[in-house]
Order: sequence, then structure tokens, then C-alpha cells
Amino acid sequence: MTVKHILKELPVDLDYHRLPRHIAVIMDGNGRWAKRQGKPRVLGHQRGVDTLKDLLRCCKDWGIPALTVYAFSTENWGRPLEEVEFLMTLFERVLRRELKEMCKENIKIRFVGNLEVLPLSLQQEIARSMDDTKDNRDIDFTVATNYGGRQEILQACRAIAQKVASGLLKPEDITEELWESHLYTAGLNHPDLLIRTSGEMRISNFLLWQMAYAEIYVTETLWPDFDRIEFHKALLAYQGRERRFGKV
Ligand code: FPP
Repeated sequence: MTVKHILKELPVDLDYHRLPRHIAVIMDGNGRWAKRQGKPRVLGHQRGVDTLKDLLRCCKDWGIPALTVYAFSTENWGRPLEEVEFLMTLFERVLRRELKEMCKENIKIRFVGNLEVLPLSLQQEIARSMDDTKDNRDIDFTVATNYGGRQEILQACRAIAQKVASGLLKPEDITEELWESHLYTAGLNHPDLLIRTSGEMRISNFLLWQMAYAEIYVTETLWPDFDRIEFHKALLAYQGRERRFGKV
């Protein structure tokens, strides 16, 4: 019997009413996982996709309505060319293969980041998957691809500055709501919980504005090994925290 089958339902020691409504994940450790097995790094990414698929299904099974994952950062272009090309092809292949299933499972997928510089065939697959799933309601699945938090903030600043310069907006119209409507994540709640695998204690330019009050959970487990048992541990830790949002 697999972990997936054992933990199909929300574990009884978790309180359904206090689950995070939105979870962000930094899926780190694919390369190290592969290295430990004496395999090429890219195999870790391939296994990482299986982990992601099950986490998404688990969020659905347990009643968590939004999941956002960091698939490729603006800094990841600095990796060896073969690895970057492998990742771009992997994203495209996975999207093509999983689209039907995402429609069936009522998953709404959205990509955030500077998508214009991605390979054209990937951009087309992204546009198709977002369009085909736009009316789905069970879970908001967001994939940050060529995403950088500072870059997101800069593009929002530029867009708002343009509107002010052309007289469409006045400086005093710039509220938190207006600002958020210019972010890639417009319309999404802020993450309540950030999970980072493989031990690093950083947020690495991920959702800088949105993460202001997120609880951070870091585990030594490498991403390909992050299963439902590990996810359960993360949620238990989250429910053990007292969230004060700056109050006493
Ligand atoms: C970090 O591990 C992982 C990545 C840069 C890629 C993650 C992407 C996936 C799991 C595929 C997602 C696919 C879709 C379609 C959303 P690392 O290589 O930095 O590991 P290391 O720190 O051990 O080297």
C-alpha cells in the first residue's frame, strides 16, 4: 500500500478549519537527490514532477484551495544550458501530457513570471493550459516560471508609473489593492504557508510582497522525497504556530 493510498483523507490530527488556504512551495533538492542515487541531475527534476503531481492531488483531497510552486527562477538561466533546455522541454511535455487530467480534476492552472522570453512552443502550451482551465474551481494551481520577486515588483511599479504619467491615476490612488492588482498574482490570496525542501533557510526572491506574513516551514527532505507523510508534518507544524500578524 502506498503513502498516497494511506493518506487519501485529511489526517484526523489536522483541523480542517485551520488549514492554510494557500501554500507556496520552493521545490529544492532535485539535483542532490539525483546525485545521491548516482544519477544525472535531470532525473531529479523528472522525479520532482511526480512529487508535484501528488502534492497537487493531496491539496485537493485534503481541501487546500491554492498551491503555488517555484518551477524556474529568473536566476536559473545561469545553470548549464543542457539543464535549462531539459527543464523547458520537461515543462512543455508535462503540460501537454497532464492537461486533460487537470481539466477532469477541475484544476485551474496559471503561470506567473516573465513568460515572454520562454521558448515559443512552451508559451503556446502555457496559453492553452491557462485558457482550457480558466473556469475550473476546485484548486488554483500557480506555477512561477522565469519568476523573480524583485522583477515582479519592478514591472508593477513601471505599469503604475505609466498610468500616473499619462494622467490615468493620481499618486494618492495607489493603495494596497491597486498595487496588488498589478502583480502577477492578482486575484490570489497571499500564501499562509511557505514550504521549502532540502534545508536552505532562504526565500530566494519568491513572492516577496505576497509572503509578508507567511509561516515558513523548512525541511531537510529533498523535493523528490516530499510525500504525503512529509506534507502532513508541515501542516501539523503550521497548525502549531500562533499567527499574530504583527499584533500581540
Ligand atoms: C530545484 O532543485 C528544482 C528546480 C529548479 C526545478 C523544479 C521543477 C520541477 C519539479 C518541475 C515542475 C514542472 C511543472 C510542469 C510545473 P535543484 O536543481 O536546485 O536541486 P539542488 O539544489 O539539489 O541542486
